[in-house]
Amino acid sequence: MQIQILQERPQDQRHIEPLLDLTFGPERHQRTTYRLREGVPPLAELCHVALDPYGTLLASLRFWPVLAASAPAILLGPLAVAPRLQGRGIGRGLLRHALAEARRLDHGLCIVVGDPAYYAPFGFRSAVAAGLVMPGPVEPARFQVLELAPGTLEGRQGAVAACPHAPGAARVTGEGAA
Ligand SMILES: CC(C)(COP(=O)(O)OP(=O)(O)OC[C@H]1O[C@@H](n2cnc3c(N)ncnc32)[C@H](O)[C@@H]1OP(=O)(O)O)[C@@H](O)C(=O)NCCC(=O)NCCS
Repeated sequence: MQIQILQERPQDQRHIEPLLDLTFGPERHQRTTYRLREGVPPLAELCHVALDPYGTLLASLRFWPVLAASAPAILLGPLAVAPRLQGRGIGRGLLRHALAEARRLDHGLCIVVGDPAYYAPFGFRSAVAAGLVMPGPVEPARFQVLELAPGTLEGRQGAVAACPHAPGAARVTGEGAA
């Protein structure tokens, strides 16, 4: 099937929410990563969707601005692929596309809380070992970081925090956080 990756559009919101409910469950809002997103618009230029040839939404990947040791960083996620189409490379395709875009736009540091086996091939490594700390409960092995620009982490240890006034943050949707 021909899959198209596009920057997220306002009309995608109503399809993304049910996909996230399906893949992560409604209790996802209790997670520490959601605390970091509360009241903060996602980074429009990095949020992408995968569509089938009929325009049906198959997957979504969003990013939020955060601070890591008081400096700008991006928080990857949520990443979700429609259950019937998982394991066909759609998630990796979205990740490859969005991370390339993040580098092009000069973002230096990317944080994710997710399965290390999935993210390691993209260069993510332990954020705990790198000296970063999440502001709430998180499984340490799932907390990972990627230097989009080499050397960004040098001398940069400390807490991850919400970034409500990030430059360049723009609303993708009327509702804000997913
Ligand atoms: C996790 C998810 C985003 C992966 O997207 P996908 O399109 O299904 O995965 P891809 O086809 O790109 O990649 C498939 C590969 O990733 C592996 N993989 C899939 N989910 C994984 C996970 N949670 N942990 C580790 N590896 C995983 C598969 O085993 C497969 O490996 P292989 O190529 O060596 O066989 C998708 O399965 C999903 O939406 N899951 C539910 C929501 C979720 O858990 N999101 C996690 C974000 S951290």
